[in-house]
Amino acid sequence: MTKILRRERLVPNIHLIEVEAPEISRKAQPGQFVMLMPDEKGERIPLTIADWDKEKGTVTSVFMVVGTSTQKLTMLEAGDDIPVYVGPLGKPAEIEKFGTVVCAAGCYGIGAIYPIARALKEAGNKVITVLDLKANYLLYWEERLQAVSDDIFVSSRDGYYDCKDYIPQVLGGVLKGNKVDRVVSIGCTYLMYTCSETTRPLGIKTIVSLNPVMVDGTGMCGACRCTVEGRNKFACVDGPDFDGHSVDWQELFFRRKSYFEDEITSLCYWEKENLLKS
Ligand SMILES: Cc1cc2nc3c(=O)[nH]c(=O)nc-3n(C[C@H](O)[C@H](O)[C@H](O)COP(=O)(O)OP(=O)(O)OC[C@H]3O[C@@H](n4cnc5c(N)ncnc54)[C@H](O)[C@@H]3O)c2cc1C
Ligand code: FES
Repeated sequence: MTKILRRERLVPNIHLIEVEAPEISRKAQPGQFVMLMPDEKGERIPLTIADWDKEKGTVTSVFMVVGTSTQKLTMLEAGDDIPVYVGPLGKPAEIEKFGTVVCAAGCYGIGAIYPIARALKEAGNKVITVLDLKANYLLYWEERLQAVSDDIFVSSRDGYYDCKDYIPQVLGGVLKGNKVDRVVSIGCTYLMYTCSETTRPLGIKTIVSLNPVMVDGTGMCGACRCTVEGRNKFACVDGPDFDGHSVDWQELFFRRKSYFEDEITSLCYWEKENLLKS
């Protein structure tokens, strides 16, 4: 059992979960993830490690509420236990002095990209952070990201911050004004795909953190199979980071929808049993 120390809503659809996991906190590196189960009857889901504290033995993730498992997580509070919490899994992000690196993120990726931006800054890179939001009230961890970035641009569809452009325009503008050596992108699949398509003609290396369906997270079930450079890869053990210009995006979009009907049915049943009764 793993004890929850904190579970709080950051913005309407994004929550933070901090747990007591001393072993994982000692080994965690930027870009890695954990697999967890909100309850004994639940599914294992992957969440990126967004922060950790080796001294306190804690690990933090940020999650977006999209289906049954993430909805269940929102019902848990400090002091509750979760039955499965395994990690750190996946290969760590590549951290070196590349020069100027753009960190582009949206939704849960705003939290997930934080340790990568921090490590890139510590390695001596100039870090430019680009955040994409549907609306101004969905921004969180802005101060944390500001502290590890040389520059930060926030685009929200309501134009509340720097502009209302979609990520390809914002990223395109940053790439025009700066000599950029690498782009790292985390968030929804479409955001990572459009970032990769923006940098492809310019030949700027773009690393994406793929988020296919995962079951075991240790390379045994095949659920997370993706095609990268024309070869089969398992995102849980070969990734989750890959070169965005070599990913078969259409296959990834297609495979992520494999259980769409079942996911909707599961959420409807769970809500009927748990939310509508109360
Ligand atoms: C390596 C890895 C790291 C990840 N890190 C994080 C993280 O740090 N924070 C986080 O919130 N999520 C993260 N994800 C995605 C997360 O695992 C899924 O959102 C989660 O499994 C959904 O479970 P669920 O039961 O709530 O929803 P499901 O019932 O599995 O899905 C419900 C519906 O939402 C859609 N959906 C699923 N995931 C997403 C998504 N991310 N964005 C938009 N729609 C989605 C599904 O296609 C489906 O239609 C990560 C995924 C991987 C593979
Ligand atoms: S999640 Fe099973 S092989 Fe990757």
